[in-house]
Amino acid sequence: MTDLSLASRPVRRIGFGAMQLPGPGVFGPPKDPETALAVLRRAVELGVNHIDTAQYYGPDVSNDLIHRALHPYPADLVIVSKVGARRDEAGGWLPAGSPAELRAGVEANLRSLALDRVDVVNLRVHAPAEPDARFEAQLDTMAGLREEGLIGGVGISNVSEAQLRRAAELTEVACVQNPYNLVDRASARVLAACEELRIAFVPFFPMGSGFPGANRVLDHPALVSTAARLGAEPGQVALAWLLAHSPWLLLIPGTSSLAHLEENLAAGDLALDAVALATLDAAAP
Ligand SMILES: NC(=O)c1ccc[n+]([C@@H]2O[C@H](COP(=O)([O-])OP(=O)(O)OC[C@H]3O[C@@H](n4cnc5c(N)ncnc54)[C@H](OP(=O)(O)O)[C@@H]3O)[C@@H](O)[C@H]2O)c1
Repeated sequence: MTDLSLASRPVRRIGFGAMQLPGPGVFGPPKDPETALAVLRRAVELGVNHIDTAQYYGPDVSNDLIHRALHPYPADLVIVSKVGARRDEAGGWLPAGSPAELRAGVEANLRSLALDRVDVVNLRVHAPAEPDARFEAQLDTMAGLREEGLIGGVGISNVSEAQLRRAAELTEVACVQNPYNLVDRASARVLAACEELRIAFVPFFPMGSGFPGANRVLDHPALVSTAARLGAEPGQVALAWLLAHSPWLLLIPGTSSLAHLEENLAAGDLALDAVALATLDAAAP
């Protein structure tokens, strides 16, 4: 597997997403904090050098666990966070995208991760849209935080192709984080634009997410039958398909389980044959 870089720091193609570590609904502490810490430590032990998080996972739960499990951080570890949202007292998700809120979000990440600089921070916009003055002002704030040295690179998340292209005109974009998986390819044009602009695309929900009622990627018949034929797990085939789908994809599968973590990282060694690729390519609705 070829490595890609995030803000000039090389990362392996399979990293780790920390969204599954807090309690249900990404809110409050995990049921079993020791396992959550063990998952993070095992991930790094197995070579993960890219961890995706957010201060608003918990809030502060994912970041605190990362800090407890891994600080002082390995020199090659790239921690990517995001700003643009916050939680209410019941765990609801609220936008927090004003310039002051973006700065406060970066500062909150610096505090909870005990860092002087977060390697990359994604500007998480509410929904893909046409680029407008508000989006440009948000990018300007993020670029300012990078110039101050508080963040190493600016990523963008949940964007349209037009927002990506406008962002790339205005500043250096470290990565794009949009939903993308076997059954949800709504961001195909964003991925194609990333390939053209040579920007890493980091799909969220690579296995269909942990939210109840979300697309059950792992139950898809094409995935299940391919996994059975190849003697692999469906999650591994979902990840191997993404790795084969574009060399510009970096994966951050999320799990709270040691067994799933090990399965997911082993997906990097799973070769999909031509039949598997054709079957899976045709699986999108
Ligand atoms: N930018 C954004 O707005 C945004 C939004 C969402 C997520 N993200 C990032 O993207 C990362 C990935 O997305 P995600 O965690 O939401 O969803 P995901 O990786 O698509 O799926 C996570 C779900 O799959 C399960 N799972 C993981 N490995 C498995 C395996 N080998 N076999 C069976 N089930 C497995 C997990 O349960 P277990 O815990 O039981 O393994 C969990 O329910 C997140 O962790 C987060 O860092 C970013």
